[in-house]
Amino acid sequence: MDNFVYQNPTKLIFGKGQIEQLSKQVEPFGKRVLIVYGGGSIKRNGIYDNVLAELGKIEAAVFELSGVEPNPRISTVRKGVEICRQESIDFILAVGGGSTIDCTKAIAVGAVTEADMWDVVTKKEKAEGALPFGTILTLAATGSEMNAGSVITNWETNEKHGWGSPYSFPKFSILDPVHTFSVPRDQTIYGIVDMMSHVLEHYFHHTTNTPIQDRWCEGILLTMIDTGPKLLDDPENYEYRSTAMLGGTLALNNMLNLGYHGDWATHNLEHAVSAVHDIPHGGGLAILFPQWMRHVLDEENAPRFKQLAVRVFDVAEQGKSDKEVALEGIDKLQEFWSSIGAPTKLSDYDINEGSVEEMADKTVIARPEFGNYKKLTRQDSVDIYTASL
Ligand code: NZQ
Ligand code: ZN
Repeated sequence: MDNFVYQNPTKLIFGKGQIEQLSKQVEPFGKRVLIVYGGGSIKRNGIYDNVLAELGKIEAAVFELSGVEPNPRISTVRKGVEICRQESIDFILAVGGGSTIDCTKAIAVGAVTEADMWDVVTKKEKAEGALPFGTILTLAATGSEMNAGSVITNWETNEKHGWGSPYSFPKFSILDPVHTFSVPRDQTIYGIVDMMSHVLEHYFHHTTNTPIQDRWCEGILLTMIDTGPKLLDDPENYEYRSTAMLGGTLALNNMLNLGYHGDWATHNLEHAVSAVHDIPHGGGLAILFPQWMRHVLDEENAPRFKQLAVRVFDVAEQGKSDKEVALEGIDKLQEFWSSIGAPTKLSDYDINEGSVEEMADKTVIARPEFGNYKKLTRQDSVDIYTASL
């Protein structure tokens, strides 16, 4: 295990009815509140009315930015920054899934940073601070509710990049599993794939002596393999929705990777696909992760893949080489995702060989090599995309 410092300043408020804490949480930050939300799901399921009622208790002046896109856009971030500056906003409240929260993080930083936010996202400029913001999570997937990361897309250049700063942790996040009852089946599936992928990104590293972290990762994977199908059969089951919500948060609040760095190549590969084709993040991961695994698996790293196969996918190891066990595990991962309804091929999204080169270019915009477990180049991207068609 490497040396590490861990600090996560986000206050997590979890459970049924916890939106009643909202006014108390917002009040210390001021009364001019910008609420940020997506395409309207929060109006249909009633969360919007409850938020307004809560903010009414502290007589907040409420401003709104609606229409945050899945795969949120820099143009929407800029609109939000403008509102914050013009209306002297004190506090921003994100109400939604990862896209709304990521957009809010960029607005919060953009509101107090001189540079254009795209230059911050692309790391040409530094974040200088942020307006305080909180979240009401409505979709279990990204972990954005308890981390400092944000992923923003630029449709002028077809680029999608992750960025983060010490200022972009939410002050609080309210996680009521009931708020996720209305998440449609496909988004529920993508959420399960995304949180499992975060665990898998962590899992592939070369640091020795991480037995506790390994078991945490395996525990979340086993739990989602057990709970995922039950949740899809019974989407308004509070216990299953709670498990998924906690799973999504723990998978990416940087606890699992205490003392080591995971791989993250597959996320880079997926962001490049989404940047060109605007597909759901979890759908892309379900296609690409097994292919990344098959691509990087070799004799030397096979024991790590074998551990996953045996402990999580119950693959019998007798009479087989490490690589054979590893490959069976990868097949089982793909079978599981396929069994819950996730896509398995890029052609499921009408993506064909015609865009492989363009997507591969996007994977190396930030740097010529990517991935920590195995360094990949543009040619690796071409090979993985081609195998994923
Ligand atoms: O826009 P609305 O109307 O709210 O509908 C959304 C959207 O269409 C809907 N939805 C959300 N909650 C709902 C609901 N529908 C009904 N009932 C509810 N309770 O679901 C759709 C997808 O929402 P979105 O926020 O896009 O999904 P998700 O949470 O999966 O976020 C995906 C984005 O997060 C980024 C992805 O790249 C993608 O841009 N990621 C962010 C990360 C982070 N900040 O740490 C890490 C991830 O790896 C990921 O890259
Ligand atoms: Zn992800």
